[in-house]
Amino acid sequence: MNTFSRRHFIKTVVAGLTGICAYYCVSNHKVYAQSSSIPTNNKHILVIYYSLPESDSNLNEHRENSTVTIDNQLLGNTQYMAMIIQAALKNTDIFRIETVTPYDTTDHAKLIEQAKNELNNNYRPALKQINNLDQYDTILFGYPIWWADLPTPVYSFLSQNDFAGKKVIPFGTHGGSGFANTRTTIAKLQPNADFRGQNGLTIYRDRIDNAKNEIVDWVNQLSLV
Ligand SMILES: Cc1cc2nc3c(=O)[nH]c(=O)nc-3n(C[C@H](O)[C@H](O)[C@H](O)COP(=O)(O)O)c2cc1C
Repeated sequence: MNTFSRRHFIKTVVAGLTGICAYYCVSNHKVYAQSSSIPTNNKHILVIYYSLPESDSNLNEHRENSTVTIDNQLLGNTQYMAMIIQAALKNTDIFRIETVTPYDTTDHAKLIEQAKNELNNNYRPALKQINNLDQYDTILFGYPIWWADLPTPVYSFLSQNDFAGKKVIPFGTHGGSGFANTRTTIAKLQPNADFRGQNGLTIYRDRIDNAKNEIVDWVNQLSLV
């Protein structure tokens, strides 16, 4: 190889390597950028709910309305509502708040007394933990009314988790109290959340069996997806 062709050969190899490097650096950068940044129009929605389906065989007509039976499965009213919301939102995750020690749901009178004592004593039952709250920017937060208040497991959840910066929309079921003051309470417990209490929906328990369309319409007008 003469001097010219050797130089030419080296130049060609260097140019080739530079080109290969440039291609991989740029394409790797693109891949990196795609995988690490969340597109601004990508909503991450989570339905969180608490619900306590009662199984007292002596319940009267009204109290029996604390549950819904779908495909032989006993669901709590709020649980049923949460499942309708999840289905209406499509591909949305759902999380059920659960206490470490389950409540005895076979005796309504006893449960009512226990709930009253827990609320009066600011008792906060231990919960099974949620790990991945960070990845969601919108929370639909559901619960039943207990003694015109939040259930104590919901207090536990709100004291252990921070909704800062997240859009939070409440929903729930009740036996006549509506939301009572629970929306004000949530706003106080989560001062850094973008809490949309006025956009919430609560359903009277006697109407829950026939409320599917109303719930779906409500979800749709929230325009979350
Ligand atoms: C311990 C307890 C206390 C309740 N207190 C009230 C109340 O003060 N006001 C009300 O409207 N409903 C009250 N309810 C009725 C529930 O809010 C209603 O049945 C709700 O639909 C139950 O939802 P769930 O099946 O998802 O738990 C109470 C229910 C329980 C179990």
